[in-house]
Amino acid sequence: MELVSNKTALNGIINVPSDKSISHRSIMFGAIAEGTTTIKNFLRGDDCLSTLKAFQDLGVKIEDDGTVITVYGNGFSGLQPANEALNVGNSGTTIRLIMGILAGRPFTTKLFGDHSIAKRPMNRVMLPLNSMGAVCQGHDHTEFPPLTITGTEKLQPIAYEMPVASAQVKSAILFAAMQAHGESVIIEKEKTRDHTEDMIRQFGGTIDVFGKEIRIQGPQTFIGQEITVPGDISSAAFFLVAGLITPNSNIQLKNVGLNPTRTGIIDVIEQMGGTITVEETAHADNKAGTLTVTTSQLNGIEIGGEIIPRLIDELPIIALLATQAEGTTIIRDAEELKVKETNRIDAVAKELNKMGANIEPTEDGLIIHGKTPLHGAKVTSYGDHRIGMMLQIAALLVKEGTVELEKAEAISVSYPSFFTDLNKLYQ
Ligand code: S3P
Repeated sequence: MELVSNKTALNGIINVPSDKSISHRSIMFGAIAEGTTTIKNFLRGDDCLSTLKAFQDLGVKIEDDGTVITVYGNGFSGLQPANEALNVGNSGTTIRLIMGILAGRPFTTKLFGDHSIAKRPMNRVMLPLNSMGAVCQGHDHTEFPPLTITGTEKLQPIAYEMPVASAQVKSAILFAAMQAHGESVIIEKEKTRDHTEDMIRQFGGTIDVFGKEIRIQGPQTFIGQEITVPGDISSAAFFLVAGLITPNSNIQLKNVGLNPTRTGIIDVIEQMGGTITVEETAHADNKAGTLTVTTSQLNGIEIGGEIIPRLIDELPIIALLATQAEGTTIIRDAEELKVKETNRIDAVAKELNKMGANIEPTEDGLIIHGKTPLHGAKVTSYGDHRIGMMLQIAALLVKEGTVELEKAEAISVSYPSFFTDLNKLYQ
């Protein structure tokens, strides 16, 4: 499709879509809890709908009246063998977290997804779950999907030092650990998003967190809750950057979730000299607020170390931001970008360079030389929602030529109303 280009003066208010990570987990906790869970502001993007369908396939009654999702949980033992293989679509969170849940169920489940899922590494989840007593296998003796998992009611607890900083891996192990008999200890490589830990407490369970060390006793039972999902800062990020780099702009983003394990992009914007205000508002379950950005002069910075997991999904749009900053920005310690929906290190460098950016891909990140004007080009999302949205924000700066995006449909994975929301800002 041809992207919107050559825009100035983006002004307005956006209610960003609901948080993807929290939406997935609200279905999962609703399914394993006893009693009814209601979910308001559930994200009806392709990924979270894959989770919803997967739990229906596992025998959980889930209703959607168009406003509220109701999950009728019957505890872990309410999960029943699926008649067919579960299709997770493009969703890494669905496949990895569901494996932790299925590790404690005494039956076999097959899991598959799209082309991208077939290339996502799964040993990071399969190895710890196998050591707890589950039997997980990849396709053709590899670690890649389609996968088969046979769970057991006799899961052993685990003491595990994580080799990667990953909330998906941590969450899969936590879901298994809450079904095991005894105490599990998980040590994180870096602190990652803690929505699973929050929901364990919210649904009446217990967990102890001391910095990067997590202790959890099993078995545990959970009680159905009323959940209201806040807006997703990872979706807000596209409009934060649009407001900062498009001349004469001022954009307000309402009800954005502000869990501190997710707000690295706010720190980066401030360090680069961007004008951003954060006004906290009351939210039922999570910290949330209004973020306002104004067009700013930016400078290059270095981004690495423990901040990386706090902005891992925002790095493609942060790279675009850096193309409009004076000087060099270095992103390091971000090798995980290579195993996201696509290799985001290569995709960002290749596609933005086609538009006139000066970006060097490295083994663990990107070196971005700013400030560069951008021009028209034929680009692709590689089927990755966040690459697609980043390229649309880049196209806004293009004064000459058009930007043609291949595989734009991927955007509906996390932000089905992205183009409608963008449209509101220049009407
Ligand atoms: C997620 C964790 C992150 C993130 C993904 C969502 C989650 O993945 O990139 O979009 O909901 O737990 P990793 O755990 O692989 O870093």
